[in-house]
Amino acid sequence: MLPVGRSRLALAGASLAYGTGLFVAYEASRPKPPLLTCEQRRDRFAELAQGYDGDVHCDEQSSGILAWRQELVAQARGRVLEIAGGTGRNLEHFPAAVSELVVGDNCEAMLQVAARRVAEARVGGGAACCPSAVTLAVMDASALPFADDSFDTVVDTFGVCSFEAPVQALREMGRCCKPGGAAHRLNRHVDRWGCYWNRDIEGMVAESGLRVVSVQRRHLGTTVMLRCEPAKGEAS
Ligand SMILES: C[S@@+](CC[C@H](N)C(=O)[O-])C[C@H]1O[C@@H](n2cnc3c(N)ncnc32)[C@H](O)[C@@H]1O
Repeated sequence: MLPVGRSRLALAGASLAYGTGLFVAYEASRPKPPLLTCEQRRDRFAELAQGYDGDVHCDEQSSGILAWRQELVAQARGRVLEIAGGTGRNLEHFPAAVSELVVGDNCEAMLQVAARRVAEARVGGGAACCPSAVTLAVMDASALPFADDSFDTVVDTFGVCSFEAPVQALREMGRCCKPGGAAHRLNRHVDRWGCYWNRDIEGMVAESGLRVVSVQRRHLGTTVMLRCEPAKGEAS
């Protein structure tokens, strides 16, 4: 017979495994909303833009996503490009080591919210500060309007799950990133907003030619933080 302490531990472990199994089975069997075309998704984000931050903030805080954003963005250096930057939720987390920040998104309404954030940070200073040189621009992540090797750091948080051409967008991240620079990615498997919820992000990163430096997983592996670098000038 197991001592009481150990049997409690075994019971707790079994309950956790059972609960996890139930959750995974539920997620796999739950009907998913239909996928949208690129234009439909852009319209969807345009509709959501004003309420987007209120919609995701509590969830991000309680799930630890907010802390992960901070951790990822804190590593940015020099001239930085953020693709699919949305409402600018990362703006206040970029460190002083960022000399210039370009935030792109294909949805103008999302960027308008980001522009308001920048303006408020300028007025407020202090707490909600963001880099002093910020440019917001409408652009498609799969055809970035920049020369090769233009940025020291390229960032994407939760963009790839909504791209129609995710591998191409990852290639573009690598192309625009200087040799020795860094491409940081944070992804979460969600089926909200008509996004692709079950993508093999690490497989796509490998296919794009980015070299993975480190991977961290949370939430039963459904949230992934990847630090990558462009594998430039290397034989494939
Ligand atoms: C889930 S939101 C994430 C926004 C932001 N990165 C964040 O972490 O809060 C996905 C964003 O990707 C943008 N997006 C979707 N497809 C895009 C594309 N092809 N090019 C650029 N942005 C795109 C959407 O407009 C939206 O702002």
